Amino acid sequence: MKLLKSVTRCAAVAVAMLGVALHADARPLAAIQKAGKIVIATEGQYAPFNFFQGSKLAGFEVDVAEAMAAKMGLKVEWKALSFDALLTGLKQDRWDMVIASHGITEERSKAVTFTEPHYCSGGVIVAKDAAIRTAKDLAGKVVSVQTGTTYLENVKKVGAVKEVKNFPQDTDARAALASGRVDAWVTDRFVAMNSLKADPAAGLKMGDFLFIERIASAVAKGNTSLASELNKALAAIQADGTYATISKKYFNEDVRCK
Ligand code: ARG
Repeated sequence: MKLLKSVTRCAAVAVAMLGVALHADARPLAAIQKAGKIVIATEGQYAPFNFFQGSKLAGFEVDVAEAMAAKMGLKVEWKALSFDALLTGLKQDRWDMVIASHGITEERSKAVTFTEPHYCSGGVIVAKDAAIRTAKDLAGKVVSVQTGTTYLENVKKVGAVKEVKNFPQDTDARAALASGRVDAWVTDRFVAMNSLKADPAAGLKMGDFLFIERIASAVAKGNTSLASELNKALAAIQADGTYATISKKYFNEDVRCK
């Protein structure tokens, strides 16, 4: 009986340790290659980078990630989640990679490992009033942004802003401006251009950059085997014209970092 108990206890400890081991290490490249499939998470509410076309994910980042995976000989299993869940899920090993227009920041770099950037852009000021164009025009104004973004961080740095309103989705931050609940919306330059074109009747005008940033995919902190293979794949699609074709399709220009 005593022996049985201690055997059971040993087994329990072993299982627990295995659990910890599995949890602490993100799937390294070899495991992903063995499965033949990489699990990638994105948001799906951020056109033209990641969005739903009916029930299917589409967008620049979806195409770029698919092309990178193809270079690596892998299939993609997509997951779509709210923006604020994406980087956290890497830590919990729920997916291998996130591609959702994350700007490379010092803070985020403490929690995840970024790949090389897949595009360069920045946050712009969008307003109905053509007089609201620059950071100093935001003085005394109410500004909408998506929660957890670099837009929030950077608008907060503009001291004289009256109020920053947070929305779980960037599309809601846009809607707040369109319906006149806020004076300005800060979002990505290409998202703004896309939205102005899609709905000219909303009367939104694009102002200046508030800041610029380098946008990259992320993998679990320290998963360097995967990050370096993704970097190789990105370099390869940038060299062979695939990236340029995808970029042209969505932006009519090449958005890679120069
Ligand atoms: N570029 C911004 C950031 O780094 C916004 C990203 C928003 N992405 C999205 N899929 N909604 O925080």
